[in-house]
Amino acid sequence: MRILFIGDIFGRPGRAIVRDRLPGLVKQHSVDLIIANGENAAAGFGITPPLVEELFELGIDVITTGNHIWDKREIIDYFEAADGNPHSPARRVLRPANYAPGTPGWGMYEGSKNDVQYAVIDLQGRVFMASNDDPFRVADQLLKEIKAKIVFVDIHAEATSEKMSLGWYLDGRVSAVVGTHTHVPTADERVLPNGTAYITDVGMTGPYDSVIGVNKEQIVARFLNNMPARFEAASGDVRLCAVVVDCDEATGRARTIERLMVK
Ligand SMILES: [Fe+2]
Ligand SMILES: [Fe+2]
Repeated sequence: MRILFIGDIFGRPGRAIVRDRLPGLVKQHSVDLIIANGENAAAGFGITPPLVEELFELGIDVITTGNHIWDKREIIDYFEAADGNPHSPARRVLRPANYAPGTPGWGMYEGSKNDVQYAVIDLQGRVFMASNDDPFRVADQLLKEIKAKIVFVDIHAEATSEKMSLGWYLDGRVSAVVGTHTHVPTADERVLPNGTAYITDVGMTGPYDSVIGVNKEQIVARFLNNMPARFEAASGDVRLCAVVVDCDEATGRARTIERLMVK
C-alpha cells in the first residue's frame, strides 16, 4: 500500500494547489491512500464542514488536524452530529487522540481501501503546547484496539525531540510516524530499523512567501511590538509538501519514505 500524506493544508492557496497537483501525484507515485492534515484549511485557522467535504471530494481519504481544530466552531457541531454514526464522514476527520476524555470527535480511524485494512492515529505533542494527555501512552492504548497492520501516525508537535522520541518509541509497531505543525519540512526522512517510516515535519502545503503561512509583515510586526494584531493568510510562493510511504501490506512495515515538495 502506497500512502500519500500531505502536510498542513493552509487556506485557499493550499487547497488550490492540492486540487491542481493531486491527480498527477497520485498517478506518478501509484498512490492507494491519501491522508492530509487539514487544521489550517480555513484561511489558516481551523476547518469547516464544507471544507471537509471539499477535501474529501479531491480524493483525500482521512483528514488529520491539531491545535487549530477548534478555531471554527462549526466543526464541533459536525462532530457532535455524527456521534453514534460509525459511517458518518466525520469519522474520517480526526482531532488529536490525546485530548481530554469526552472531547468531541475522534482521534483514530480504522478503515479499508482497495481491500487493505489501515488505521490513522492523530496525536499532539506536549512540549511548548497545551497540556494534553500523554501521546506515547495514548498510542499504546490505541494500538491494543487496532486490528489493521498498516498504521499511520500524525504527530502534531512543536519539538523535534518529542517527535523523534515518538518515532523511536513506535518503531516496529506502526508503519509511519510523520510530524506536522511546524509548517517547515525537515530533511530527515528515513525508515527506522524495525520498519517505521519517520520524518520530523512534512512541511506546509500553502504560501511560503510568509511566516509559516501567515502574512509576513504582520508576524514581523508582532515580534517588533508585541501588540495584538489580526493574522491573515499569505498568498505567494505556494508549494505542496508531502511524503509517500510504501508499506508492506502483510507486515505493515514501511519499505521507503520519499519527501516531496512541488510548486
Ligand atoms: Fe498547522
Ligand atoms: Fe498546528
